[in-house]
Amino acid sequence: MEDLITFDKVCLTYHTKESETPVLSDITFSVGKGELVGLVGPSGCGKTTILSLISGIIKPTSGVVLTGGLPPEKCDISGYMLQKDELLPWRTNMGNILLGAEIKKLDRQKTREKAQALLKKYDLAGVEKHYPSQLSGGMRQRVALIRTLVLAPQIILLDEPFSALDFQTRLQVVGDVYNMLREEGMTAVFVTHDINEAISMCNRVAVLSSKPCRIKKMVDISEFNGIPPSERRLKSRFLELYDEILTTMQNDTE
Ligand SMILES: Nc1ncnc2c1ncn2[C@@H]1O[C@H](COP(=O)(O)OP(=O)(O)OP(=O)(O)O)[C@@H](O)[C@H]1O
Ligand SMILES: [Mg+2]
Repeated sequence: MEDLITFDKVCLTYHTKESETPVLSDITFSVGKGELVGLVGPSGCGKTTILSLISGIIKPTSGVVLTGGLPPEKCDISGYMLQKDELLPWRTNMGNILLGAEIKKLDRQKTREKAQALLKKYDLAGVEKHYPSQLSGGMRQRVALIRTLVLAPQIILLDEPFSALDFQTRLQVVGDVYNMLREEGMTAVFVTHDINEAISMCNRVAVLSSKPCRIKKMVDISEFNGIPPSERRLKSRFLELYDEILTTMQNDTE
């Protein structure tokens, strides 16, 4: 499998006038094309920082980050999906979907056609002229993901995309987003606080420590490849994997 993301001995220290904060220490991992890798770990450990390195917003202090074989700032192949959908209330749903394409000066007509096809495919036909406030939380997340998909990224970075949703909606949206990522053959890195969600969606889950952040363990979930989230939760192995991740998170000596 071709690697789309590689981290080799990556360290990152944030410098301010008063202090230096070592955040990442010796992070090495790779993500293959079409893989979905989860990041779980304590608040403030450096999960968003890892996504920022993949997107090229920041550069490592030492070590190497590559996406598609190149430094991320040179290839622009990733798209972000954030905690809040950040749809602009004064723009229609289609206006929101086209926003990134406008900024990137992509062909408006082609992007619109692609958006329309995705809206139809993901059960949102007819919402183009409506405003985000007229949609349910789950629909908003799908519109937000379509906004990212029309930019044709090779990598999608999801930073706790479901944490603002209520439990019922969340279960539904986890299934929807999983389907959309798989259908579109996306490679994704998924940050979450929720171990259930990580096991429901991912092929592998990196359990992170804090201060500074290291990978304590990379938990393999490939036995669930191709199985949708709602079915994974019913497997007896699900609980064992949950236990393995939780124990690793709680174990300070690993
Ligand atoms: N621009 C910055 N300058 C200095 N320190 C920063 C900066 N951004 C983040 N940090 C620090 O780096 C550490 C990691 O932050 P990061 O946002 O990556 O954590 P996180 O795992 O995403 O946390 P959360 O789960 O709360 O979202 C934190 O201690 C944070 O205070
Ligand atoms: Mg974060």
